[in-house]
Amino acid sequence: VSANAADIELAKASTLEKIVQSGTLRVGLEAGYMPFEMTDKKGNVVGFDVDMVKEMAKAMGVKLELVNTAWDGIIPGLLSNKYDLIASGMTVNQERNLKVNFADPYIIVGQTALISKQSADKITSWKDLNDPKYTITSKLGTTGEQAAKRLFPKATYKSFEMEDQAMLETMNGKSDATVYDLPMTSIFYAQHGKAAGMKFLNKPFTYEPLGWAINKGDPDFLNWLNNFLRQMKNDGRYDRIYNKWFGS
Ligand code: ARG
Repeated sequence: VSANAADIELAKASTLEKIVQSGTLRVGLEAGYMPFEMTDKKGNVVGFDVDMVKEMAKAMGVKLELVNTAWDGIIPGLLSNKYDLIASGMTVNQERNLKVNFADPYIIVGQTALISKQSADKITSWKDLNDPKYTITSKLGTTGEQAAKRLFPKATYKSFEMEDQAMLETMNGKSDATVYDLPMTSIFYAQHGKAAGMKFLNKPFTYEPLGWAINKGDPDFLNWLNNFLRQMKNDGRYDRIYNKWFGS
């Protein structure tokens, strides 16, 4: 089987050209991280990231395809070209950046802690969590998990596949705290945690820029994304989408 010249040219091309030629932008994400990507009552994946990539596809003049992918397989899926980029609330960190490139951050978040009702009086600061008497939960393969293990090595750490399971464990008193990204913990606290007597330590104790991840070695695509993001941030589209999901 010999590839023709056009195929060879396309293989060398930027992901950008492949998207335009195929007419579809494929975005990898994992629904379940509020308010960035979640499933609505009708089963549609909606959220801040989704609205941003809708604008992206529009600006490219192509259709959008969302590829819902388990979190622990999301980088391997990009590396094996199952989608063109990851837009999934992914924190830009140095370990991931060894494998992928990130566009400029589109928002900054950080880790916070939800505390169970029974431990609410004892835990007044996130620093109190580094204690062998506490059990902490978070989500597998996330920066929440990394922060819990790094900052609270004396505590017992328990990992969950999905963020809501990790938070429910603490709400049900089976663990003392859940360490996770700020927007999601505050939504859970408002919807369920507060009524259940949980405590919310809402001041972030890590610095976490979120960015779109793409395959390495593709400066054309990276350049397009960064210019697109700057345009969105300054022509009102970013603010409109931000206010829709985070309130003004
Ligand atoms: N920001 C965190 C991280 O990068 C959590 C992201 C989880 N995203 C998701 N779609 N479930 O690890």
